[in-house]
Amino acid sequence: MENVLSGIKPTGQLTLGNYIGALKNFPKYQDTNKVFVFIADLHALTLPIEPEVLRQNTKDIVAFYLACGLDPNKSVIFLQSQVHEHSEINTILENYAYMGELNRMTQFKDKVSKMNEKKIGLGIFTYPVLMAGDIFLYDAKKVPVGEDQKQHVELARDIAIRFNHRYKQDVIVIPEPVISSNGARIMSLSDPTKKMSKSDPKGDIFLKDDLKSVRKKIMSAVTDTGCEVKYDKVNKPGISNLLTIYSALKEITIEEAENEFTGANYGTFKKAVADVVCEVLEKIQTRYNDIINSPYLDEVLEKGKKEASQIAQKTLKRIKNVVGLYEKQ
Ligand code: TRP
Repeated sequence: MENVLSGIKPTGQLTLGNYIGALKNFPKYQDTNKVFVFIADLHALTLPIEPEVLRQNTKDIVAFYLACGLDPNKSVIFLQSQVHEHSEINTILENYAYMGELNRMTQFKDKVSKMNEKKIGLGIFTYPVLMAGDIFLYDAKKVPVGEDQKQHVELARDIAIRFNHRYKQDVIVIPEPVISSNGARIMSLSDPTKKMSKSDPKGDIFLKDDLKSVRKKIMSAVTDTGCEVKYDKVNKPGISNLLTIYSALKEITIEEAENEFTGANYGTFKKAVADVVCEVLEKIQTRYNDIINSPYLDEVLEKGKKEASQIAQKTLKRIKNVVGLYEKQ
C-alpha cells in the first residue's frame, strides 16, 4: 500500500477546476491507499494575504474536502501549521537544497517577476523546500498535483535522492508526481486559452457560486463560429473545455461525450453541461452548508492533527538521528 499525499494552498476560492483536477480524485484513493490531505496554510503566507481571508479559506477547504467525499475515518485530514514537524523538517532540509535549483523554479520566477525586488520574502524562495518536507514526513510515494506543481515534486525527488545518497541509506521515500489526466487543465469560460483561476469571476466557476449564476456563465461561455460538438483544442478551445468538464463530471470519455451530442447545436450542449455542473455543485453545497459552521469541522481537524503528528514525529526522529542530531535512544 503506497502512501498518497496532497495539499491545497488556501489562497483563494476553490473553483470547478480544483474540483475536477484534485478534490474529486482524492476519495478514490482512500480505499486502496493510505491518504494524507492537508491545507498548506504555511505556504499561503509566502505571499501577502489578509488574516481573515486566510482563516476563512482554510475552513472552507476543509469543509469542501469533506463535502466532496473525503472520509476522516479513512484519510488523514489536517492543517500544515498544526503539525510543527513541518517547520522543523524544513529547517533541516534547507541545507540539502541548492540556491541554484530554487532559483530555477518556474513558479518562483513567475511570482517574483511581478514584485519589487527589494520586497521579495525569503519564504517564496524556499517554498519548494517546505513542500518537500510535507511530502517526506508521511513517506509519500504518490503526490497528486496540478501541472504547475510538478516541478516542485520533482525537486523534492532530487532532494530525497541526494539526502539518501549522502547518508548511504534509504531514509527518505522517493516521491513521484501524479498528474490527473482528465481535467488537469480546466480553462476559463470567458477565455478558453487561459486556465480557470481565481482572478476572473466571469470565466471561473467557484464551488460556492449560486447555481443561477453558474448556469448563466456556462450558457454564455465563449465558443466558436462552427456548429459541431467536437474536441479540437486548437480550433475549438471553448467547446473542448466544455467537453472536458462534461466528461469528467459524467465519468465518461471525451469520445463518449462527443457521441452523445452528434447533431446537437451548441445551445443544447451547453444546457446539458450546465445541468450536470449544477447537479454536482448542488450536492456539494448542501453538504458544505451542513459542515462549515458545525463542531464536526474542528473534530475532524483535531483527529487529523493527532494522527498526522504521530507519523510526522516518527519520521522526523529518523531523520534527526541520521544527520547526527543527538537524542536519547
Ligand atoms: N504547493 C501546492 C500548491 O500550490 C500545495 C502544496 C504544499 C502541496 N505542499 C504540498 C501539494 C505537498 C502536494 C504535496 O498547490
